[in-house]
Amino acid sequence: MTALYELHKLRVVLAPGRNAPAALEDVSLRIDAGERVALVGANGSGKSTLLRVLHGLIAPTSGSAQRRQGLQQAMLFQTPVLLRMSVQNNLALALWLHGSGWKSARELALQALAQSELDEVATRSGRQLSVGQTQRVALARALALGPEALLLDEPTASLDPHSKRLVEGVVQAYGGTTVFASHNLGQVKRLATRVIYLEQGHLLADLPVADFFDPTRLQADSAAAAHFLKGESI
Ligand SMILES: Nc1ncnc2c1ncn2[C@@H]1O[C@H](COP(=O)(O)OP(=O)(O)OP(=O)(O)O)[C@@H](O)[C@H]1O
Ligand SMILES: [Mg+2]
Repeated sequence: MTALYELHKLRVVLAPGRNAPAALEDVSLRIDAGERVALVGANGSGKSTLLRVLHGLIAPTSGSAQRRQGLQQAMLFQTPVLLRMSVQNNLALALWLHGSGWKSARELALQALAQSELDEVATRSGRQLSVGQTQRVALARALALGPEALLLDEPTASLDPHSKRLVEGVVQAYGGTTVFASHNLGQVKRLATRVIYLEQGHLLADLPVADFFDPTRLQADSAAAAHFLKGESI
């Protein structure tokens, strides 16, 4: 398989039971190296579930989800958690778990924090940061691992405008494949090469970014996605 990710007729039911609705239904897609894919859609449309499937945290109820063998990937969760230790050691621990020696892990951790302009929180406890700071540190931790693919669940949802720009810059500078969920359509325009629109677990549009934001083309491809976009831009 040359694709990084390949989903075929994927169905995911998170809470099996009578009449349980599927969180994802009949989703097929492939993602190749170098793509920056935005996942958009209303709350509950299945964006986080799709990211978790790509990361291997949720198995398909039916259909298939394949990842290229040996793919190095890292995920930033919608509500990331840091451990009760210094921010520097939070990053160092992740690096150590990936095989670095402790001393070099500590040094690499500091470098990674500096690259994300987070040096000033290096000695703070990971549990005593604001939501936005936690999100930025968790992204720095994911990037420090040097992944080929980065999965980001609303990476700037809690950030102030300055931090938002900073994080967007960090994501742009990262050269690998990126799949990110976002409610920020300006950000989708700035960062994505391709946009996937989800509605109630169904994939209703999958287009190059220019086509997604071209009202005529979007309307022709997916009236539902065009309707969503109109609502968003009011
Ligand atoms: N742990 C769970 N157990 C059962 N159902 C769940 C669970 N987590 C999510 N769901 C359901 O799965 C569907 C998809 O949820 P998901 O979190 O993927 O949506 P989302 O697009 O990420 O939403 P948001 O924009 O609010 O982050 C929703 O109907 C949701 O209620
Ligand atoms: Mg979500």
